[in-house]
Amino acid sequence: GGIITLDPGFKNTGSCESAITFLDGEKGILHYRGYSIEELAEKAEFLEVAYLLIFGELPNKEQLDKFHDDIKHQSVVDEDVKKILDAFPKSAHPMGVLSSLTSALTAFNPSSVDVRSEEAMYKSIVKILGKFPVLVSWTLRKKMGQPLNYGSTSLGYVENVLQMMFSQPNEEYVLNPIVVEALDKLLILHADHEQNCSTSTVRIAGSSHAGLFVSLASGISALWGPLHGGANQAVIEMLEAIQKDGGDTKKYMAKAKDKEDPFRLMGFGHRVYKNFDPRAKIIKKAADAILNDLGIEDPILDIAKGLEKEALEDSYFVDRKLYPNVDFYSGVIYRALGIPTDMFTVMFALGRLPGWIAQWREMRLNKEPIGRPRQIYIGKTLRPFIPVEER
Ligand code: CMC
Repeated sequence: GGIITLDPGFKNTGSCESAITFLDGEKGILHYRGYSIEELAEKAEFLEVAYLLIFGELPNKEQLDKFHDDIKHQSVVDEDVKKILDAFPKSAHPMGVLSSLTSALTAFNPSSVDVRSEEAMYKSIVKILGKFPVLVSWTLRKKMGQPLNYGSTSLGYVENVLQMMFSQPNEEYVLNPIVVEALDKLLILHADHEQNCSTSTVRIAGSSHAGLFVSLASGISALWGPLHGGANQAVIEMLEAIQKDGGDTKKYMAKAKDKEDPFRLMGFGHRVYKNFDPRAKIIKKAADAILNDLGIEDPILDIAKGLEKEALEDSYFVDRKLYPNVDFYSGVIYRALGIPTDMFTVMFALGRLPGWIAQWREMRLNKEPIGRPRQIYIGKTLRPFIPVEER
């Protein structure tokens, strides 16, 4: 073989060519298919962005309606999946439940594994886009001990998610347009981020020609970790801990800088962004606006702002180019929308779903080879076996 270069964490290794997302970490630029994240967050709807990411172009009205109809037609989840859900303890982390149920969907939709034609691929894609929001809502309902809901065909994609998550029996659920818009924006901001940990996982799992649903389930597992999507939960837990500590941000700053202490300032730093994370900028502004619109005063937001200010003035963070990332302020918004803390990463997964699908589809259409990194062996050289009684 040739020379193997060692690059732990793939800091400088490209794994594929991609036409989906452009990211300039020095300048803080993010584009989906050539459209700026700022413009999409402001003007587009989540489902349009999903279509754009997956198929490469913004849909016209007719294409969008058909896409939405196809998704709605596929939004029923087999009754037996409820039995699997039932078997989990109520205390189960929603991300584990979501990953398991997504994987389990394959058993109930065996044809989803067949993606030999683009038409078959499309069917699997609309199936998962239809069923995933149901699973997202079910993980919440399970956790809360509430009856499970199904979607309504008369609602928009994001409205439907909210309705399934929050409507209670014998009670009319009135959708608040501020809440719908806020969630739509958050999902757009999370929809893709090129070859991050979970997306690379989806591509690698899918490169073995494992089915779409299980490849996505692998991505959900990768997203769960606190260094990746799990950071949004960790941020709020950190801010709550600071609040309990009487707002002592200095103490947490010192812990984050202490190399003997494994604690990191959650929601800070990014592998690629060495300037600011453009998503964090949009989310910070949105958090202010949404809390204001909903008439909520959350002391956690003030703590977050104070912490950000301190970090941005501290040479440790400045020297290492550590800025707030997408997860720093998103939790403040999720809280305002009434979403429990351990559901935050599930909401991230809902947003990232079209990105994972788009990247998986690109990988399959490009006929990429199986993902199989090399290594540099540093273990023992050949030695003779010694029977157990002689060891
Ligand atoms: N708090 C304190 N120090 C930090 C932090 C932080 N949040 N992030 C990085 N550093 C330090 C790190 O200790 C290292 O210092 P030194 O050079 O003295 O050893 C330097 O900055 C470079 O960090 P790194 O760990 O080599 O950088 P990385 O690219 O491997 O890690 C990261 C990127 C996002 C995992 C990391 O910044 C981190 O752990 N942040 C906190 C968790 C977080 O917010 N994750 C969300 C990421 S964005 C969205 C997403 O993926 O979901």
